[in-house]
Amino acid sequence: MNRFAWITVASLIAALTLGLAAHAEVRSLRGDRPIDAGAQMFDKKRPKTLEGGFKRAWKTAPPAIPHSIDKDRITLEDNSCMRCHSAENFKKEKAPKVGDSHFLAADGTKLKDISARRYFCNQCHVPQMDAKPLVENTFSAK
Ligand code: HEC
Ligand code: HEC
Repeated sequence: MNRFAWITVASLIAALTLGLAAHAEVRSLRGDRPIDAGAQMFDKKRPKTLEGGFKRAWKTAPPAIPHSIDKDRITLEDNSCMRCHSAENFKKEKAPKVGDSHFLAADGTKLKDISARRYFCNQCHVPQMDAKPLVENTFSAK
């Protein structure tokens, strides 16, 4: 074999070894379930409720939602969360008002209505369930 052929063979072996090593690290949440076996169904869990709310993981963390949101809908026309959490309704509904930060535009201007950046509440706020984590998580709140 000439030099060029040797280099080609060596590169192929290197690529294959690297490829296998990389492959070993990628683990799908499906586990070893075959692609054609369909998704595994999980037990339906009820969201946890907690009077007074959950402790925040850190000072400026978005608080977790301490009630069910199964009936809530966030669409272009309506945001049912704001029926209780808006500045107009929160007192009547005995709910905490959305944070002041939720009324700031990207450039810091104060807005009358909730900022578009904060419209999709469950982008940041999520209900809690007593479920086994899908992957190991060693995060601990300070
Ligand atoms: C029917 C009224 C109502 C609706 C609708 C509602 N909430 Fe609430 N929410 C409450 C009340 C009341 C509390 C306070 C519960 C407590 O602390 O005991 C609360 C608490 C929260 C908290 C915790 C705040 C904190 O400081 O701990 C978050 C976050 C929250 N709600 C988000 C949402 C989101 C997001 C939606 C829509 C998907 C929503 N809520 C819909 C009444 C409502
Ligand atoms: C981009 C992320 C983000 C989105 C979207 C968002 N929030 Fe928040 N929210 C936060 C963070 C971070 C905090 C805690 C700091 C603060 O008050 O700004 C918070 C605080 C809150 C609190 C507690 C306020 C307090 O003074 O204790 C409520 C209630 C709340 N949000 C409700 C909502 C509702 C309802 C929506 C949708 C209309 C929403 N949030 C959308 C990030 C978000």
